Amino acid sequence: MMEDRLKQQIRELLSERNAVLLAHNYMRDEVQEIADLTGDSLGLSIEAARTDADVIVFCGVHFMAESAAILSPGKKVLLPRLDAGCPMADMVTADKLVALKAEHPGVPVVTYVNSSAAVKAVSDICCTSANAVKVVNSLPDKEIIFVPDRNLGKFVAARSDKNFYYWDGYCPTHERLRPEAVQKLKSEHPDALFVCHPECNPAVVALADHACSTSGMYEWCRKSPAKKIIIGTEAGILYKLKQDNPDKEFILASPALVCPNMKLTSLEDIRDALLSMKPIVSVPEEIRVPAKQALDRMLAIPRD
Ligand code: 13P
Ligand code: SF4
Repeated sequence: MMEDRLKQQIRELLSERNAVLLAHNYMRDEVQEIADLTGDSLGLSIEAARTDADVIVFCGVHFMAESAAILSPGKKVLLPRLDAGCPMADMVTADKLVALKAEHPGVPVVTYVNSSAAVKAVSDICCTSANAVKVVNSLPDKEIIFVPDRNLGKFVAARSDKNFYYWDGYCPTHERLRPEAVQKLKSEHPDALFVCHPECNPAVVALADHACSTSGMYEWCRKSPAKKIIIGTEAGILYKLKQDNPDKEFILASPALVCPNMKLTSLEDIRDALLSMKPIVSVPEEIRVPAKQALDRMLAIPRD
């Protein structure tokens, strides 16, 4: 079969190039299937920092490949689709963040990894959805600036006694999930639990039995005694959820939970990137060094 040949070709090219294929949990099923490692933003950053491969093929969106380039400067980082961006990351720029910092002198900036390298470079510490509460609570300060996700910011603020200055950024994919849709599903499936990503609107998070990162969801769903679970995050997560839990039923909370950027990368794109060794994502040193400091501070915080 055509797809099998393509997968085999990719595996051969990966070994010829001494390359590792990292894929986010939202990628297309067939991309997750051939990846060396799938994970959430935190897991993939950790792997990108410690791999001894010469080349990292990053199947995700642009900011993720940038983080890999920041953390592993000696390696080539390929992003098979350079047009795979993140609209939330584009909602904050370094200039605008510097202007906000000037309004609040001395207040540390906690930046969600869904942001550009330039924004990370003017931040104090990064976080992902998996460790945001821990990162914020690790700071001695009473006030913090949280960018760019206002929904994740509010999720963390509810679990912290600090005062937050929010940025008005959001994920258009998660924001499409409305509380009314969740309520309707819950009444149709009274025996189901509901788990969602903290990028969802606070009105949706308020309805959830649990809110966590994508990899956190794998663990929570695996451990949960529930046989039916409503999922409030991007559809790509269903691939591994169904594979790992054949005895459970997963209901996507809305058909609108599809991130067009996460769906761009095809097997052909990965093969072509490995053949041409392009497109490369790199970060200029004057941005990479301070951005790495913000990521390193985050990575120094122990995982649960
Ligand atoms: P996590 O996989 O880190 O939970 O992130 C979700 C996301 O939206 C990445 O773009
Ligand atoms: Fe960005 Fe949302 Fe897509 Fe993640 S799911 S890449 S936050 S737009």
